[in-house]
Amino acid sequence: MRILLQGDMVAKTTISLIKADIGGYPGHASVHPELIKLAEEKLRDAVNSGLIVDFRVMAAGDDLQLLMGHTKGIDNSEIHELAWKTFEAGTEVAKRLKLYGAGQDMLSDAFSGNVRGMGPGIAELEFTERKGEPLVAFMMDKTEPGAFNLPIYRMFADPFNTAGLIIDPSLHGGFKFEIWDIMEHKRVFMSAPDEMYDILALIGAKSRYVIKRVYPGEGSPLPQDEPVAAVSTEKLYQIAGKYVGKDDPVALVRAQSGLPALGEVLEPFAFPHLVSGWMRGSHNGPIMPVSFANARCTRFDGPPRVIAAGFQISNASLVGPVDLFDDPGFDEAREIAGRVATYMRRHGPFEPHRLPMEDMEYTTLPDVLKKLENRFEPAD
Ligand code: F6R
Ligand code: MG
Ligand code: MG
Repeated sequence: MRILLQGDMVAKTTISLIKADIGGYPGHASVHPELIKLAEEKLRDAVNSGLIVDFRVMAAGDDLQLLMGHTKGIDNSEIHELAWKTFEAGTEVAKRLKLYGAGQDMLSDAFSGNVRGMGPGIAELEFTERKGEPLVAFMMDKTEPGAFNLPIYRMFADPFNTAGLIIDPSLHGGFKFEIWDIMEHKRVFMSAPDEMYDILALIGAKSRYVIKRVYPGEGSPLPQDEPVAAVSTEKLYQIAGKYVGKDDPVALVRAQSGLPALGEVLEPFAFPHLVSGWMRGSHNGPIMPVSFANARCTRFDGPPRVIAAGFQISNASLVGPVDLFDDPGFDEAREIAGRVATYMRRHGPFEPHRLPMEDMEYTTLPDVLKKLENRFEPAD
């Protein structure tokens, strides 16, 4: 170990979570162990060559998750290429095993420096490590990026969720939200609590306005230019122009010492809120917090699920994970989610279980409606 001298640049740490569905097993339920094994081999090589410091390969439903610790910054072409090449190699295995939808999120033939817009989902955070650096990686399946709006808002802006917003002076400056309009590809920065009502006016429309990043507010002990949370906002149907599977999102959230405590970061998931994306990307249903072992989407291809992997970050190494929803404290949320799932299911093909027409545009429903076009005649 080298002793740091005054004036030495301390490299910031970057945590990159890059995920893709490159083949399901069976159907769209889970990830085959061989894909995990192969990804671990590829990322192990990248540790040995010095490209990354550490990694974990995980699975949420049918999505393969690559979590990497390194010092290269966000949007780094070498890191993105590593993820892309790993998914490419995994796709070969998926094809050999005839896994379902092999290579489904690989929307481009050639890598061109960044995986954004190519199919995989990405959440990245670059920051100066504190003395103790807790971080949670959230991974969802069978839903869309806007599914994170409610829980992220509650963590960083709702004093009924986060006691620290009231009790801890270091949180009193609030937080700044970077919100993306994913239809128009625009963004806006807004501060909570000052602009709380305007923030909610946008992010309540979760299929369009999506929280992308959160930054510390004025007076925070943390650097204000370093994000404390990031969400993947790729929309597969926007990229491909047609329905090619979903954009099951991921998020990274830092915790404690001037940020929401770990328990305040997890608390929003005690309420299994309704999200879109269940069965054929076409249904609303509750998001169920589950353990890693239960991250398999079975009932009606769901219900939508979220897992939480907890780490301490140490010089870009990932100390963990702890399977944070593997806790009886979340049993009630699972029970409620089960009941709400049954209630929603009883609507069958009716809205609001099925998504409204405008959100069905990129599914297979328009093909059904096209068949009926000529049958319509003027009505007085
Ligand atoms: C995939 C998903 C699934 C599929 C459904 C139909 O992430 O949500 O519910 O949409 O299983 O899949 P296909 O059309 O491939 O038979
Ligand atoms: Mg799939
Ligand atoms: Mg998926």
